This record gives sequence, structure tokens and C-alpha cells, in this order.
Amino acid sequence: MARDSDGRVVFVDGALPDELVDVEFIEEKRDFARARLSSVATASEHRVTPPCQHVSDGCGGCNWQHLAASAQHDAKVGIVREAFARTGRLPDVRMVRGASVGHGALRTTVRMAAAADGRLGFRRSASHDVVAIEECLVMHPLLAQLIADVGVRGAGEVTLRCGDATGERGVWAHDRARLLGLPDDVVTGASAVVHEEVAGVRLRASMSSFFQASRQAAEVLVDTVRHASHGLLDGSEGPIIDAYGGIGLFSATLVPKDVHAVVVESSASACDDAFANLRGHTADIVQARFEQWAAQPAGLVIADPARSGLGKPGVGVIVETDTPCVVLVSCDAVAAARDARLLVDAGYLVDEVEVLDLFPHTHHVEVVSTFRR
Ligand SMILES: C[S@@+](CC[C@H](N)C(=O)[O-])C[C@H]1O[C@@H](n2cnc3c(N)ncnc32)[C@H](O)[C@@H]1O
Repeated sequence: MARDSDGRVVFVDGALPDELVDVEFIEEKRDFARARLSSVATASEHRVTPPCQHVSDGCGGCNWQHLAASAQHDAKVGIVREAFARTGRLPDVRMVRGASVGHGALRTTVRMAAAADGRLGFRRSASHDVVAIEECLVMHPLLAQLIADVGVRGAGEVTLRCGDATGERGVWAHDRARLLGLPDDVVTGASAVVHEEVAGVRLRASMSSFFQASRQAAEVLVDTVRHASHGLLDGSEGPIIDAYGGIGLFSATLVPKDVHAVVVESSASACDDAFANLRGHTADIVQARFEQWAAQPAGLVIADPARSGLGKPGVGVIVETDTPCVVLVSCDAVAAARDARLLVDAGYLVDEVEVLDLFPHTHHVEVVSTFRR
């Protein structure tokens, strides 16, 4: 973020803090503008040549490859700190740099698109065009092999998923794309199932259900939520609400089988997976939008909403549960800060905010915040 000579904010795609750069304006409004980097006059000490060949082809998959791997996590902490100070009006929260998956972590779920030449690729940044991919720095080898083997006919998005622990692979062509030359082991379609192992638990994830980007990301997140839960996972203060619970990742890996857990999740396929993953547990799986769920008393709420966050309606339901502790997992810094402010206004205190790096080479953050009353 820079300012022009009038003090107007200019968002410069591709620039790093403390750099002197030449830019080309691509959008101008009265109170802000967007610009694209033309050249770097004085480079940041953290600027590097992108390690992936496809960045120069325009691939928009990993937008932080020009920032040294060693500087990415601290940059994410800075972004979250600023969001909590500005949006959340919470400048003094205890914020810690949490765990990172490291740059060897490989994505086991990717969403790709059909390129015009019949190969799979990622969207060009800020465009619908597709850049065909031959090698990907962040993709699991089981998927890299798959994209080398298959051809695509037609246009559209394709989800690819593999299990790092199980070696299973699946593809789901969302719309008109048809995949040719698929190896025999690959399962296909929205309801096809791939299994993964996290924290020693075997989990089922249908192709159309949300699952964390990599096995390492899921392990780190589960571990972080365990520590953030302050011993309340034993049900001592009441049932555990696993809000926006997906396939039941947290309930299946963290909640003892005899402790009452309630998974609230809007997607039918994720609920089916959660039902399978929580067999033998004392768990209810409720297919509902969390904002519309009839709240029940809770000893702990773990909430992991989509990018837009909980908002007022989601926070309202948490307050109705009368829980003494909330562990909020946010995948957007501003949404995390906004939800934190709403929870503070509702009477909770921020215990700690942990910033994880689960998505190397991208600006994506994961924030785990704990609130107590
Ligand atoms: C970020 S994912 C987290 C899933 C799970 N906690 C995990 O870590 O695998 C968010 C989940 O919320 C679900 N979801 C989105 N909007 C929802 C809503 N309004 N109410 C309940 N679930 C919702 C999505 O289907 C998705 O499974």
C-alpha cells in the first residue's frame, strides 16, 4: 500500500514494503487507486526472483513468490496486526507468530481450470485466462503426475484432491470440462471420496466437500486449535460446538469419543462425510446455516467460517450458546479483526491471536484467536 502526492491510497500489486517502484495505474477512484508494478527502482532486501517458472508466464496461483520465503510469515503477522489495530480497534492484543507448514508442504487439494490447449492450469492474476501448468512448486507429486497425464476437453473448473497418507486420488470437473486419459486409480465426480489421515485419524473427504489445502496444514491447524482450547475439549464446561465444521475435522481429531460434540455445517456432502468420520462418537451433525441454527448451551465453540467471517449473525448465535470460550479460526485478516471486535463488544476478552502460515508463497493467512469470558 502506498500513497500518491495527494495522500490518496494506492494499492500496488507486486511491490514490497520500503521499495521505490514505477507503476502503471489500472483503476482510479476518488479515494483510492490500483496500480501494477512496471519496474523496481530500489528493491527490498526481501525481494527474490520467483522460484517458479510459471510466474513469468502470468500464473496467478502464488502471488508472493517475489518475497523471500523466510520473510513471508512475518509479513503475514504484520498484515494481521494492522487489521486488528485498524478494523478491530484492538491494537494491543497478544499476537504471536504461530506454526508454519514450511515450504516443503504440498497441496493435496487444488482447483484448476482448462486451458485452451487442452491442459490444466491456473487463472492468470486478475483475469479469467488460464495459464497451463507443467510443474507446480506447491502441488503434491500425486497431483503433479496427474496433471501431466490428463488432457481436458471443453472449458471449466476442475478440483483435484489426493490423500498424502493413503495415496488415493480424485478429480471433479465442475461444469463442461471432460478429462481424458485418467489413470485407473483416480475416482471421479462430486461425490467421489478420497481419504486422508490427520492426527492419526482416518478421514473421508468427498470431492465437493471443503478440506484443508494440505495434510500438513490440517495437522498444524488441529494442533493449534487443541492448544487454544484451554483443556475445554474434555467437555467439562459443556458440549463442544464445531461451527462451520466441514467434514468434522476438529471433532474427529480433538474431541474424545464420549464427549458431546455438535457439528453445524451447511453443505450436504460435508455433513455426510462428518457422519462417516464421527461414527462411534457422541456427536450430532446438523445441516444448517450457522446463523440460523437454534443455539444450545456450550462449553466451547470452535468456529471456522468461510472468508467473509462470522459477521453479526454468527456472533449473535455464539453469544446465545453462553459459551465461556470461543476459538475462532479465520482465513482472512480483516474478517478476523471484524469478528474479534464483535465478540469483544459482546463481552468476550481476546486471550491470544495466533498467525499461522499454511499457504506458502501466497498472501493467504490463517488466524486462530481465542476469546474468554
Ligand atoms: C473454512 S471451512 C472449515 C471446515 C472445517 N472446520 C475444516 O477445518 O475442515 C468452512 C466450512 O463452512 C461451511 N459453511 C459455509 N457457510 C456456512 C454457514 N453459513 N453455516 C454453516 N456452514 C457454512 C462450508 O461448507 C465449509 O465446510
